[in-house]
Amino acid sequence: MTSVLVLNGPNLNLLGTRKPEVYGHTSLADVEKMCRSEADKLDLDLVFRQSNHEGQLIDWIHEFGREVKDGNSIGAVYNPGAHTHTSVALHDAIEGAELPVIELHISNVHNREEFRHHSFISPVARGIVVGFGVLGYTLAINGLYQLSRQGN
Ligand code: DQA
Repeated sequence: MTSVLVLNGPNLNLLGTRKPEVYGHTSLADVEKMCRSEADKLDLDLVFRQSNHEGQLIDWIHEFGREVKDGNSIGAVYNPGAHTHTSVALHDAIEGAELPVIELHISNVHNREEFRHHSFISPVARGIVVGFGVLGYTLAINGLYQLSRQGN
């Protein structure tokens, strides 16, 4: 079965309790359930991961770049959290592994602090989903699936 990776960066394990006025009350475990249900509908196997550690995230990006090349995965929906605004290493990992990525943010980063307006990930992302709350995860899975079907 073909997989889709949903990857979450630092602090997203706190979803549901961290700044609920910005990120909502849904926990990461509930987001995983929503993603699983969307993946099931599309006949995809969901791989759902979160880490607070940049090196771990880089290793997973490399792993899934290989999976996509082997025809076993369509790529990743990735919420890089604060790494979005800081990490050249994650930019290089996505580019180097040639992993198709949909960058996702729960909040609309563009109507927040200025330091959130720049993304190191966007130039190497296939698409971007911003500001739809946790619903964005299912939209992004669907979008990645459509792109992969078009052979893009
Ligand atoms: C976030 C936005 C980032 O600026 C922030 O550092 C996060 C979450 C979002 O999902 O809206 O951790 O990626």
